[in-house]
Amino acid sequence: MAKITTATIRQKKATREKVVVLTAYDVAFARLADKAGADIVLVGDTLGMVVQGNTSTLPVTVEEMAYHGRMVARGVQNAHVVVDLPFMSYQASIEDGLRSAGHLMKQGGAESVKLEGGEEVAELVARLVRAGIPVMGHVGMTPQSVHQYGGFKTQGRTEDQRQRILAGAEALAQAGAYAIVLEAMPSPVAVEVTQAVPVPTIGIGAGPGCDGQVLVMHDLLGMDPVWQPRFVRRYAELGKEIERAFGAYAADVRAGRFPSSNESYD
Ligand code: KIV
Repeated sequence: MAKITTATIRQKKATREKVVVLTAYDVAFARLADKAGADIVLVGDTLGMVVQGNTSTLPVTVEEMAYHGRMVARGVQNAHVVVDLPFMSYQASIEDGLRSAGHLMKQGGAESVKLEGGEEVAELVARLVRAGIPVMGHVGMTPQSVHQYGGFKTQGRTEDQRQRILAGAEALAQAGAYAIVLEAMPSPVAVEVTQAVPVPTIGIGAGPGCDGQVLVMHDLLGMDPVWQPRFVRRYAELGKEIERAFGAYAADVRAGRFPSSNESYD
């Protein structure tokens, strides 16, 4: 399989091939996502929640993104690796955005960066693209604005929100973004955006009308048996299976059944 580039991803819109995106945060899972044929491995700032245990993505730093990006890049051969710009690494100034993105490209294993926002980040997107840094946009429910929304709330239900999402996606595409994540919005809004922009849209909680889909790996693997938002389909129940394996190991150690003589050196 050939290496996937931003050109390959853009091309998929024309050929109507769905773009498959998975998150990963370390080498072991990145390798598996790559072997399974993901087009894009996203080192999401969701690592702040699913790996670090925070209640939002806000505490994540550029250095932490670079650390996880490097691990993921080592596990990937074919997929495209995109790394998130975390909260306040690009919002204060264009220069901040250029430096943060440059760091992720130079030392964070990134082949492109993702940032949240619409019209307000379009100038930064254009500058990044001019500097040779491909950009994936992200509109709709943008988790770095969780406190602005008052929770992780679906966006695009009001006319004002719908227009802002559409204008934001158009501005990102115009600025040179090669793909745009559409998060947590009604399916008809996602369809409207997908038809309006010339680059692939990647949905999460945005219905089947997008050009591709992304899920957080912990969600699709069922790592947390309690967390089941409507937009997630669980393809495994690894949380339960891992807990069972850990429990079986603990019981064997306590009963003196592990290790056996076969599992010991003479
Ligand atoms: O950080 C992340 O994992 C993301 C996806 C949810 C799209 O941005």
